[in-house]
Amino acid sequence: MTADFLVIGSGIAGLTFALRAAEHGSVVVLSKGPATDSNTAWAQGGIASVLPEGERDAGDSVESHIADTLDAGAGLCRESAVRMIVSEGAETIRDLCSHGVSFDRENGHYMLGKEGGHSHRRILHAKDTTGKEIARALVEEAKATPNLTLLEDQYVIDLITTSKLGAVAEDRILGAYVLDRASGEVRIFRADRVVLAAGGCGKVYLYTTNPDSATGDGVALGWRAGAAIANMEFIQFHPTCFYNPAAVGPEARSFLVSEAVRGEGGVLINAKGEDFTKKSDPRGSLAPRDIVARAIDRELKRTGAQCVYLDVTHKPKGFMAERFPYIHETLLKFGLDCERQPIPVVPAAHYQCGGIVTDEWGKTAVRGLYAVGEVACTGLHGANRLASNSLLEGNVMARRALQEMLRLYPPGRDASNPPAIPEWEHGDVAEPDELVVIYHNWDEIRRLMWDYVSIVRTDNRLRRAAARLKNLKREVKEFYWGHRVNPDILELRNLVAVANLIVECALRRKESRGLHHTMDYLQTDDHYLADTVIRKF
Ligand code: SIN
Repeated sequence: MTADFLVIGSGIAGLTFALRAAEHGSVVVLSKGPATDSNTAWAQGGIASVLPEGERDAGDSVESHIADTLDAGAGLCRESAVRMIVSEGAETIRDLCSHGVSFDRENGHYMLGKEGGHSHRRILHAKDTTGKEIARALVEEAKATPNLTLLEDQYVIDLITTSKLGAVAEDRILGAYVLDRASGEVRIFRADRVVLAAGGCGKVYLYTTNPDSATGDGVALGWRAGAAIANMEFIQFHPTCFYNPAAVGPEARSFLVSEAVRGEGGVLINAKGEDFTKKSDPRGSLAPRDIVARAIDRELKRTGAQCVYLDVTHKPKGFMAERFPYIHETLLKFGLDCERQPIPVVPAAHYQCGGIVTDEWGKTAVRGLYAVGEVACTGLHGANRLASNSLLEGNVMARRALQEMLRLYPPGRDASNPPAIPEWEHGDVAEPDELVVIYHNWDEIRRLMWDYVSIVRTDNRLRRAAARLKNLKREVKEFYWGHRVNPDILELRNLVAVANLIVECALRRKESRGLHHTMDYLQTDDHYLADTVIRKF
């Protein structure tokens, strides 16, 4: 299959790009599962944006949103990227509304929520299912757009570049090998312009707020294609994932209780009812996430408890059902009435702040390959992402990536003499017979990352993780080359690659900064005031 634009991923970044690109050429969007199954769709809180005067919180300003973002990022944000993305807040809301997204309003004005690290109310939302509303509108429009083909159940095996085919003169993107889940067939998708918008890697950890599809595919694909990767040590742990030891099924295990609940007055307490987060930061439950997650971790270790509690029992009756209907109903389904009982919560892996290095136009080190959304490292998040900045970044960067692509590689002016791409060789290999190997390795990676590479780290634990991952990588490689490809082995291959990148980055940073906290180097050290950048070749 050939297209002017190939987009990998169907969240806010991928679809914002695709819908605009379809006005300029043919677009193929590949989604690993159903198109609405993205990290975007799982976002509860909302999208941070400073609206024009008169619509914004009194005293709020773009400068204030920039300052909060820089403060959360602990010295590692690229200020020019922060300024550019945050200044586009109002335009992003206009753009999403033009696609049919509907945000909550009251008396004709947008309702504005608050989350940790924000000094003002500036989070636009659609109740507590903002991401679902965005995904609904964008997917509906994508399905009705003539120049846009949206293909589901497609697993990208690898990107194809000139250097991978042995041409060393210039490294440019040529397309991708893609496995169709239903037929088991591997097809070549040819495109001179490829956008990676495949989201993050929460599933690399045992406990995560992410959907099952978040297996780090985008970063792994970019890494193998030769793009630079940065700051993978900065994995954000969301402080309030519902703690449900009797949980069965992904929804129960990964159920997020939005930070917006704390924005509306929810308070974190321990089993004795004490507001322990105030000991770490005067902002208490509404401090930036790295601080709150560490405060919880410390409290759990100190008391030996399995969880802490998010208390909203002091809110007026009916408030939770009205403002957070999805959270309220889901908790009721699990047997908890949050208007009467505090919600048991634990931190869980939530967001990848690093990723494929891009410039302020989404450009990677490989010609024609762009990365947008969670998969990319633009410099917006630095060492810790400010809540609800990511949907904003996804929309802004997608619009900019298209602008730049049209300038540099306009459709109709394709690269001359494209090399022939060989068909995918399944070779003479058996169907995977021992699936237990895949499941065992999958579980082992996720547990070791949780035990050794989570909220609080040490060099010893990181080295242990690196040694185990080396063996796992070898085993996965043997399995990958020795068997016919299937979705499970492809995801496992990506998962182990990304786990390695996280550990490698973490081992290089000999200080504590933002989300990277190590007992061996408790202080911030400005010798490390730079991105951790690594490249395969
Ligand atoms: C939340 O609703 O707490 C998640 C928002 C975010 O991660 O930006």
